[in-house]
Amino acid sequence: MKLFNDVPLAPDDAILGVVESYKNDPRDEKVNLSIGIYSDAEGKVPVLKAVKAAEAYLFEHSGPRVYLPMQGLGSYIDCVQKLLFTEDHELYQTGRLATVQSLGGTGALKVGADFLHSIKPNSKVYVSKPTWNNHIAIFAGAGFEVEEYPYFDPKTKGVDFAAFFKKMEEIPEESIVVLHACCHNPTGADLSTEQWQQLADLFKARNLIPFLDMAYQGFSKGIREDAEAIHIFAAKEMPVFIATSFSKSFSLYSERIGALTVITSDKEEQERVTSQLKIMVRAIYSSPPSYGAQIVHYVLANDQLRAEWEAELTQMRDRIKSMRSKFVELLNSKQDKIDFSFINDQAGMFSYSGLSADQVAKMKKDYAIYTVDTGRICIAALNDQNIELAANAVVNVL
Ligand code: LMR
Repeated sequence: MKLFNDVPLAPDDAILGVVESYKNDPRDEKVNLSIGIYSDAEGKVPVLKAVKAAEAYLFEHSGPRVYLPMQGLGSYIDCVQKLLFTEDHELYQTGRLATVQSLGGTGALKVGADFLHSIKPNSKVYVSKPTWNNHIAIFAGAGFEVEEYPYFDPKTKGVDFAAFFKKMEEIPEESIVVLHACCHNPTGADLSTEQWQQLADLFKARNLIPFLDMAYQGFSKGIREDAEAIHIFAAKEMPVFIATSFSKSFSLYSERIGALTVITSDKEEQERVTSQLKIMVRAIYSSPPSYGAQIVHYVLANDQLRAEWEAELTQMRDRIKSMRSKFVELLNSKQDKIDFSFINDQAGMFSYSGLSADQVAKMKKDYAIYTVDTGRICIAALNDQNIELAANAVVNVL
């Protein structure tokens, strides 16, 4: 059709495109280490026991499917705020948190980006170099100019904090800075407590706007520990944007369940901000789906299920750590060109392996091991059955 004559074929998504080619690969022995999805020791994506219990309850008590309010399920929003800050926190107690349910962490970023663009269209958005590829697409799509700030140092395999901090001293006031609250995606390199403190002081002094993406809460040190950066910024009495996702921590990827929370200065401001967030939601998808929100609410509001969920999350975290050390052992015992011990120091689901795009392509072609072009490997998808295959492939392409 003439209308579409000039429509170009879009390139594959850097992450989801790899999943598609993995699915289309006819080879029997193939391993997908691309997308950030946790699989258990048997290679299956788990349905958590706490989630199953919630589903059983919801099945028995299902009601009519009327629309949720634009901001989402009230009881879910309450749980999200308490999970982020605890019930005793002043921000919760005084109603200063503007929260809307969102379609996963991506939806939270999108609603926040649209809202920020409506109030600060001339601000620039800064993302870490490297970052999750969708950060750039979401903020550029909302109309912002997006730039990178220095973050990862390939030599030390850690954060180049001096360069990062210097950039934050130089960018214009009221710039929006996207930060990874924990388990930096893709590098697994996080800031120390002291570095977060220094950054938060600088942001406060320079009126920079932090947008903390927390897609992996519980996958580094624990639920409370992984929210440390958020608490450090919150203590500075400044506007803070937080994108929460339960895709990974509840293994609820396809339910698209997340939340955007904005810290405001008082209840009246919170009401104004929430009213605007609702308008953003209305214009994108009207109101969110309810199933994932009901599950998360049911689990978090029930002491026993919540404890069960935390225990399951701990198991996931521990299994990833054991896969990290096993992978390092295998890689280091099979070659002596590179010391892969740094993989043990990275936090979260991923390892930023240092493999080049060419090496990644060779692993796919010759060994049916799929990972992302940047060399990011999903450690959470390794298990005793596939880890040797993956390690051999890496060693053979070095
Ligand atoms: C990832 O980084 O692999 C995940 O966050 C999934 C995604 O949507 O890209």
